[in-house]
Amino acid sequence: MTEHTPNGFTRRGFLTSSAMAALLPVGANASVPTLTARLGQIRLLPDEYPETPIWGFDGQVPGPLIRLPQGQRMTRKLLNQLPTPTSVHWHGVRVPNVMDGVPGMTQDAVQTGGDFTYTFTPPDAGTFWYHSHHQSSEQVARGLYGVLIVDETEPPDVDHDLTVVLDDWRLTQEGAISDDFDRPHDWTHAGRLGNFIHAVTSPQVTSVARNARLRLRLINVATDRIMEISLIGLEGKIVAFDGMPLLKPQKPERLFLGPAQRVDLIVDVTADEGEDALIASHERDGVFAIAEFSVSGSNTRRGIIPALPDNPHHRLASVTDARKVPLRMEGGAMGGLRDATFKGQHLSIQEMVQLGQAWAFNGVVGMPDDPLLSASTGETLMIEMVNDTAFAHAMHLHGQHFQEVLDDGSFGPLRDTLLMARAETRTIAFRADTPGKWLLHCHMLSHAAAGMRTWLHVT
Ligand code: C2O
Ligand code: CU
Repeated sequence: MTEHTPNGFTRRGFLTSSAMAALLPVGANASVPTLTARLGQIRLLPDEYPETPIWGFDGQVPGPLIRLPQGQRMTRKLLNQLPTPTSVHWHGVRVPNVMDGVPGMTQDAVQTGGDFTYTFTPPDAGTFWYHSHHQSSEQVARGLYGVLIVDETEPPDVDHDLTVVLDDWRLTQEGAISDDFDRPHDWTHAGRLGNFIHAVTSPQVTSVARNARLRLRLINVATDRIMEISLIGLEGKIVAFDGMPLLKPQKPERLFLGPAQRVDLIVDVTADEGEDALIASHERDGVFAIAEFSVSGSNTRRGIIPALPDNPHHRLASVTDARKVPLRMEGGAMGGLRDATFKGQHLSIQEMVQLGQAWAFNGVVGMPDDPLLSASTGETLMIEMVNDTAFAHAMHLHGQHFQEVLDDGSFGPLRDTLLMARAETRTIAFRADTPGKWLLHCHMLSHAAAGMRTWLHVT
């Protein structure tokens, strides 16, 4: 027996259609949240200077904070309102290859007026970031980056959870971003270094209690500068690198952050009431506070700092069956490189510099046609990286984290970017987990633009 409802549906039919509606993915009809790459203005310098024209997501620098619980889907429709093409790369997040945001490899660059919808479920909790991956040495320097935080199901117990985004700006006297993005001297040396190191801490907390516990998420978004950071009046442990928990939290000694690297710390305020607790940056002309908290009031002291809950990311057990691939890094000023191959042509270093190129991996400058390695899913790989140059490099693998194989045979923490000093040899290993074309490049973005790029093919 069927009853008729006023709108003409049978009761049965009505129940069926509402049940179906419940099965549609949430938001299938709702409009997709957008992320608009566009021009904007921000206040970087003191009031007597003009504002700084930038390129930013939603016109801000950093772009809007994207924050979601672990296991939840992230969806953003990128709208490009810039005068040039762009894309978004989700740095450190294990995404399907088509969501990796690499123009010419995983998608076409999004043209002016165009859009692209990014959607994925980050498997790992932690501190990540997103940035343009099109002409990134210029676009990231102009401000096209933002923070992505994936919250643990059970986050650690802290009083303040603060993100500190560290950037290095090259500004003119008028407060504008200097548009010299392609100076041969920068590419062939330590990259395009700025003249104004600036940190944005959010949420903005100005005062903390003595013994308050803080989680600090430091992110180096600078295109090329290595930051050296220390803490004053704050004591605690490093709990994660590049978003991935340390199984055993470790004491921060000297803290160096290469471009793209992140570190999460959990610290207690040890400065006395009336004093300041500081995050300081060590620069050539001194030590500067980049974040300051005045201490007022006092909490009871908490106990030991626990490790973060671990992520599902695979950790290495052994590399005895791993395939070993060499990666020789060459080029730059004061390097031994005399010639190399660029787009299939043999060139001298002088000819390369004229083309804006300066660095090679295994004798090839820029993206090679053939991958550094082809692997099948599940295979364990080792890359022995020999830095045969006179500069430091921040080697970044897309798609998943790796671990360093240490001299005693143990494995270092999971990382997505490894800072290598000049003349160092370091070996990384990982189990190829996700099919696709994945970049491996120096995250000193001037070096990447000037040739330090290769890729892996996982099938
Ligand atoms: Cu942070 Cu290839 O990128
Ligand atoms: Cu480099």
